Amino acid sequence: VTGGSRGIGAAIARKLASKGADIAIVYSSDDNAASAVCEEIKKDFSVNCRFYRCDVSDFEEAKKTVAAIKNDFGSIYILVNNAGITRDGLSAMMSEEDFRRVIDVNLVGAFNMTRHCIAGFIRQRGGRIINITSISGLMGNAGQANYSASKAGLIGLTKAIARELAPRGITCNAIAPGFILTDMTKDLAQQDEIKSRIPLGSIGSAEDVASAAAYLVEASYVTGEVLRVDGGLAM
Ligand code: NAI
Repeated sequence: VTGGSRGIGAAIARKLASKGADIAIVYSSDDNAASAVCEEIKKDFSVNCRFYRCDVSDFEEAKKTVAAIKNDFGSIYILVNNAGITRDGLSAMMSEEDFRRVIDVNLVGAFNMTRHCIAGFIRQRGGRIINITSISGLMGNAGQANYSASKAGLIGLTKAIARELAPRGITCNAIAPGFILTDMTKDLAQQDEIKSRIPLGSIGSAEDVASAAAYLVEASYVTGEVLRVDGGLAM
């Protein structure tokens, strides 16, 4: 689970551990947070859990990390590309660096991790890839041209990989969360205004997204799908 040290990624890691999966957490910087999530997972679910510091946007670093995880666990069966960042701003003012960095982490990072897992999935004749996109990738969001483009790109990546790997019995799906309460969104000032636009009337939890991920692990006849977990917002 990339970006598993907090927020949605940590909730997905816990959910998959609760189903008996051993967990590898990939994270960018907060060693203490990653270590704490792993300790809790081991204590609560009696599975193996290890954490790996890696910038997923770096092709070689991602390669080394996938190799290290395989070495430690024997194989990888589920890849959750959840690591993501925002660098919001109106396009008229956005720097090239802010545009590229968000694409690099959110889209290229997911490609890198997938790229290095594919050979193993093919060899073992099975695997699950779950990409965490966003309703911003479906609808576009003003002030998030970089983020919306990265998440829309992730949907294209999901469908292309799903088609490439379907003959091998490997599925690739995406989850598109709406507003989920995490560190990424805790500062959103207009929470009441947002709630009024959500048909189900509330902001989602990381656990809501984690349940969808657990479903996609179980679903063997679903591939190339984009599952919205947004309280009906982008319907
Ligand atoms: P968060 O900011 O709480 O956590 C992000 C995680 O990604 C952290 O574990 C961090 O270590 C990791 N990360 C960041 N850059 C990385 C890099 N270069 N290499 C490796 N790991 C890196 O974010 P949150 O809210 O939990 O979001 C998780 C995913 O869900 C993201 O892809 C985000 O775009 C997506 N999402 C979140 C929504 C929300 O409302 N919170 C809505 C829609 C999508």
